[in-house]
Amino acid sequence: MTGREQELDEVRGRLQALSLSQRIRLLSGRNSWQTEAVPQLGIPALVFSDGPHGLRHQPSGRDSLREGGTEAATLFPAAGTLATSWDEDLLLAVGAAIATEALWQQIHVVLGPGVNLRRHPRGGRNFEYYSEDPLLAARLGAAWIRGCQERGVGVSLKHFAANNQEHRRMVYDAVIDPRALREFYLAAFEPIVRGCQPETVMLAYNRLNGVPATGHRKLVNEVLRGEWGFEGLAISDWGATVNRAAALAAGMDLEMPGSGGSLDYEVDHALRAGELGERDVDRAVARTSALALRLARQRSERVGRLPSPERMYADHAALAVEAAGRTAVLLKNEALEGGRKPLPLTVGRPVCLLGALARRPHVQGGGSSHVRPRRQSTLLEALPRRLAAQVTYQPGYRLDGSIDEALLDEALEAAGAAVASGAEVVLVLGLSDADESEGYDRGTLLLPAGQNLLLERLLALGIRPLVLLQSGSVLQLPWFDEVPALLLLGLAGQGGGEAAARLLLGLSEPAGRLTETWPLMAENLAADGSFARAKLREPYRESFYVGYRYTESADVAVRFPFGFGLGYGEPVAFVGVEVLTENGEGNSCLRLPALQGPEIADTTVLRYRVGLSNPNAAAAVTVVQAYLERLDPDPDWPVPRLVLCDFARLQVAGESEASVELALGWRQLAAWNEGAGGWQTLAGRWRLQIGRDVRDARRRQGPAFEFAVEAVGETPPAPEQPVPDWYRAPAGQPQEWDFWRLLRRDGRERLLEEDDGSFSLETPLEELLPCALSARIFAWLARGVILLQAGIVPFVSDAEARRRQPGIGMQLLAMREMPLRAFPLFSRGVPPRGWLAWIVRRAERGRARRRR
Ligand code: BGC
Repeated sequence: MTGREQELDEVRGRLQALSLSQRIRLLSGRNSWQTEAVPQLGIPALVFSDGPHGLRHQPSGRDSLREGGTEAATLFPAAGTLATSWDEDLLLAVGAAIATEALWQQIHVVLGPGVNLRRHPRGGRNFEYYSEDPLLAARLGAAWIRGCQERGVGVSLKHFAANNQEHRRMVYDAVIDPRALREFYLAAFEPIVRGCQPETVMLAYNRLNGVPATGHRKLVNEVLRGEWGFEGLAISDWGATVNRAAALAAGMDLEMPGSGGSLDYEVDHALRAGELGERDVDRAVARTSALALRLARQRSERVGRLPSPERMYADHAALAVEAAGRTAVLLKNEALEGGRKPLPLTVGRPVCLLGALARRPHVQGGGSSHVRPRRQSTLLEALPRRLAAQVTYQPGYRLDGSIDEALLDEALEAAGAAVASGAEVVLVLGLSDADESEGYDRGTLLLPAGQNLLLERLLALGIRPLVLLQSGSVLQLPWFDEVPALLLLGLAGQGGGEAAARLLLGLSEPAGRLTETWPLMAENLAADGSFARAKLREPYRESFYVGYRYTESADVAVRFPFGFGLGYGEPVAFVGVEVLTENGEGNSCLRLPALQGPEIADTTVLRYRVGLSNPNAAAAVTVVQAYLERLDPDPDWPVPRLVLCDFARLQVAGESEASVELALGWRQLAAWNEGAGGWQTLAGRWRLQIGRDVRDARRRQGPAFEFAVEAVGETPPAPEQPVPDWYRAPAGQPQEWDFWRLLRRDGRERLLEEDDGSFSLETPLEELLPCALSARIFAWLARGVILLQAGIVPFVSDAEARRRQPGIGMQLLAMREMPLRAFPLFSRGVPPRGWLAWIVRRAERGRARRRR
C-alpha cells in the first residue's frame, strides 16, 4: 500500500461515521470556493482560488465580479507571457511566490496551471495557456507546479482535456483523431501527471469525442489514473458537470462550485438504480477529505515560518518586475543609417511617448484569471525616472478602440515637434482586457482601428516610431515592414511598466522567445478552416498540424516562427554538438522496443552536449532549441517536418564559451498506434538539429547529428486504410472528407455524425430563445441577477453594463451560451431542473410550430 492509499483508507474509515446522505453532500462544494467541512470528524474545508499568474481570492466564498470582493495579490505576467521566457527557474519561482501568498491568504489549492495547447491564435484563453507545443507547455507547467507544491500548496492542472476554444465552451465537442490526441493534446498533461503528481486535475467544460470530459471514463479512469498513475483529486471545472452520477462513475471526485445539495438526489437515484456503487461515493469523498487534511497540515507546518506580508509582497513586486523583463521578446531591431540600432534608447535623449496604453497598460486578460493587483507600474511613470531627459506624452487613441480624430491630431503634432527637436518616438500599441478574455474567442488578430490609424498617419508623415506591443497572443501587423523596432511586452503584469523602461534603456536585455507561430494571417493556418465554427461538433481536421507543425511541414511564410526572438547584442553562437554515449552500444543506432504499452513512461534514450560561444563583451542570455526531423518518412506514420525535442535557457558570460547538456526522450521517436493500444517506435534515420528557432532549424544552419533507430521485436501492422494524402504532405486547409478518412482508419468516422438536433438540457439558452417565451423570460431574469450581483441596475443596456463593469460582457455571453442544465450549478440549485426541462419542452413545441 502506498502512503496515499493508507491515508485514504484511514479517512474512509473515519467517514463511515456519517450517513450516506451526509457523505453524498460532500461530493460537491459548499460555495464557489470551498468544500464542505466535517467539524465533528476534524476534517476542514478545502479552499480554492484562481489562478495561474496571481491569486484571485474571494473570502466571501462568492464568485464576484466586484473588485472589492477580491483580495489584492501580486500580479505576475500572464501564464502565456511567462512562457516566452522559456525559463523553468522563473516559472518555479513564480509558482513558489504564488504559493507563499496562498499560505498567507489561507488558500489550499491554486487553480492552475492551464497547459492546454494554443490550437489557433484566436483562442480566447491563449493568454492563459503556455504554448502551441506540448513539450514546452509540459516543462513550464511542471516547473510552476513544483514551485507551488514544494511550498505545501496544492495546484489544479487544467483543463483536462482538449480545451482550446471559448466559442460554446460548455458544450462543444472536440473531435480529435487518436494520434493527435495522444501525441499532441494529451502530451502536455502526461509528463506533468507522471512527474509531479499534481494534487488535483480539473476536468474541462468541453466534450471529447462525444463524451463530456467530466464523465469520460476512458479519459479519467483509464488514461489519467490507470495509465499515468494519477493519485490526486479529479474536480470539475466550475459548472462543467453534465451528469453527476456518470461523472462519479467515470472517476471524477468533486463537483464545483456547490449546487447546495440540490442535485444530491441524482446520486441517490443512481445508487438505487445500481448505476453507481457506494464505494464510488466513498472513494471520492475520502479523496477530498484526505486532501483537505493534508493541505491544512502542510499549511500549519509552514505558516509560522513565513516572511511578514510586507516583506513578502515587496519581494514579489521585485520578482514581478524581473519576470516581466525576462519574458519580453525583441521582434525587430533594424540597423538605421550609420549602423546604429534603434534599441536600446540613448540615455539623455528626449522621448515622445505615444499611446494610451503607456498610462493604462493592458497587463492581464479578462475572466477567472483576473487578479486585483497590489500595485501597477506604467511606462509613463517609469520611463522619466530612468531616462534623464524629457518625456512628452500623448494618448493618441482611445482605449475602447474607437477613432478619435482630436487625439490623433494631438499625437501627430507632438510627434512632429519631437522629431524636429531630435527626440525619439516610442509608440505603445496593444489590446484590452475585454479583447483577450475567457468566455469568447478573439474576432480578429488586428489591433483596434484607432491604433493602426495612428501608426499609419505617423508613417505618412515620415515618422517611424519604435513600437511596443501589449498583447497575450498573436497580432496581425500590416505595417511591420515600416517600423524600425518592435518589442513584445506580452501581458506583463504589475511590474510591466518598470520592466519596459529598463528594457528600453538596455538596463536589461530582452531574451524571450515566442512560444507560438505568428502567421501572416490566421487563414494561413491549417486549423483555421475548422476552428470554433460549429454549433456543437468541432472537428480538429488538421490533426497535429497545429502552429509550426503545419507551417514548417507545408513551407508556409510566417511573420515570426515559433521560438523566434532577438537580443541587443550579437547572438550567442552554437559551436557544436557532441553526442554523449550512454547506451553502451554506440549512438549511431538506437535499439528500441517496437511497441510499448501506454503505462510505460517516457525515458531518455540519448544525451548530447551543445557548445556555445558569446562574442559580446557583456554576458548574454540565449535559448538553445533542439528539433527532431525524420529522414525516412513512412507513409503509414507521417510526422511533422520538425518537432521541438528539448531546450534550455542559459546565460553565457561575455567573450566566453559554455555548454549545455540536453536529452532526447523515446516518445519523440514513437507514434501512437490506436489499434495496437500502444506506442510504436518509428524505425529509420533521424536528424537532431540545433536552432535559434524552428525556421532556423529547418534551414539546418546550426550544429546537428544524425542517428538511426532500430525497432526490436514485432512491429504491429498499420491500419489497412492508407493515411489520406493531406496528412502525408499537408498544404492548405484539410477538408471534412480528409478528416473523415483519417478517422475511418481507426473506425471512428461516426464521431463526425451530427446528432438529431433536438433540444435538451444540454442546449445553450440562446438556441431556445426564438422558440419559447418562457426561455426569453428566463434569460431576462438571469441577466438581471448577473447585473444585480455586479452592483448594476438591470435596466441598462449591455453596452452600458460593460462600460460600468468591463468583465460583465463575458458573464452575459456565457449566460446566453450556457446549457440549461448548468444554471442550477451556479445558483445553489435554482431553478430546479424540472422547471428547466419544462422550458426545453416549450421550446421544442415552439420550434415544431414554426416549422409547420
Ligand atoms: C474556468 C477555470 C477557473 C474556474 C474558477 C472556470 O470558468 O474555466 O479556469 O479556474 O472558472 O474560477
